[in-house]
Amino acid sequence: MSRLPFRFIFAGLAGFILFQLFTLVTFAGWLGDVPRSPSGWFHVHLLVLGWATMIAMGAVYQLISVVLQGSIYSERLGYVHFWSFLVGLIGLLVGFYSGQTACIAGFATLTFIGILLFIWNLAVTLMRAKQWNPITACVACSLAYLLFTGVVGMTMGLNFTFSFAGVWHERLFGTHIWLGTIGWFGLLIVGMSFKLLPMFYLSHGYPERLQYAIFTIWNLGVLIGATSFLCESGVLWKACGFSFITAAALIYNIHIVQIYHKRHKKTPGAGVWWATLSAYWLTALGIVLCVLLVLTPQSVFQEKTIVLVGWAYLWGWVALTILGYLSKIAPFLWWTFKYGPLVGKQKVPSMADLINDRYVGIGMAAIAVCLLILMAGIGGDWLAVARIGGSAMALCSLAYILLIARVFRR
Ligand code: HEM
Repeated sequence: MSRLPFRFIFAGLAGFILFQLFTLVTFAGWLGDVPRSPSGWFHVHLLVLGWATMIAMGAVYQLISVVLQGSIYSERLGYVHFWSFLVGLIGLLVGFYSGQTACIAGFATLTFIGILLFIWNLAVTLMRAKQWNPITACVACSLAYLLFTGVVGMTMGLNFTFSFAGVWHERLFGTHIWLGTIGWFGLLIVGMSFKLLPMFYLSHGYPERLQYAIFTIWNLGVLIGATSFLCESGVLWKACGFSFITAAALIYNIHIVQIYHKRHKKTPGAGVWWATLSAYWLTALGIVLCVLLVLTPQSVFQEKTIVLVGWAYLWGWVALTILGYLSKIAPFLWWTFKYGPLVGKQKVPSMADLINDRYVGIGMAAIAVCLLILMAGIGGDWLAVARIGGSAMALCSLAYILLIARVFRR
């Protein structure tokens, strides 16, 4: 079994721990800063690149070998990708933190080269395998969106130093966030769930037709939303993008129920249960946004609403899903790596022995409650409540991730 995914998972765990420590040490003080500031850029990218993207890259390397029943195009390229992305990201974060534009521009380029190598490795692997289905198609499209997110991010980073983009910078900003959050994270989670949820639930014989609909509608939503930001088109076009994503999320929920009904396992574990719940939360969020867009479109594009929606989406769905899935993926990877070769030769622990599911449930519930407190604080303009919620969430997340990290010491 390849060690490559572990590199990304360990680096991702370190990124997550750092993010929580920074938040704890400052008593979540960065929540009070304006979003587009060195502190905001630093914290956001530590989370989205240093944790979520890092873990996602490791998971994709592992999952794609399982889906295609073969190895990736080049493991060596995978290691070059890892180091280029890691070094680039560390420099980029230093640049964001200190607000040094030359540092941001230089390391943004190195981070982008890391992303390019990842996409090249995966693109050749997928092309050679020629096994196209909703899972591989979702992974391929999410990679394309990561590529565009990186291109736009690098362009904005270079523009900080060389000032060539003019009014286009603002357009690129919205496009960057939409492509990164909805395109890259969104489609990747949906596509990977098509494979992972049936595995977690031991589900067979469920209909797969809805996967095609979800793939198509989600992609349309990403493309419409991205062009609406890039071309600065009015509220209607943006509302159209939101509605497509909400419709796709709704169908995704129905598909989860289909998988659930064909399950052969009574319960998939607390982490997966919370991840599933967060998918329903995503749909509810989408519906509320669509209604607001019809009734009071201006309120949706206010800074406070955007920040709130960002937290609800990134923590409420993306992070809860990754954290929930990790409670299954980490024991699976570690057990296969360490104990797989020993089966039949000596007594080995079961996969369930590697992590305490009750603690997983408590951890996920605590993070969800803290998120609600944090959002109430932001929504009500109560900075103290937001900081208490943010710090408590950092503490619970830290405890939870240490529970996951302990798996690798068993
Ligand atoms: C090579 C990779 C990336 C580079 C070089 C990059 C660069 C940048 C830059 C320069 C900004 C500041 C723009 C401004 O305020 O004018 C920014 C903002 C932002 N980026 Fe990225 N980015 C990258 C990847 C990502 C990814 C994958 C996501 C995923 C969601 C993401 C999410 C965001 C968000 C949410 C903001 C707004 C942060 C804030 O205003 O505080 N970025 N990015």
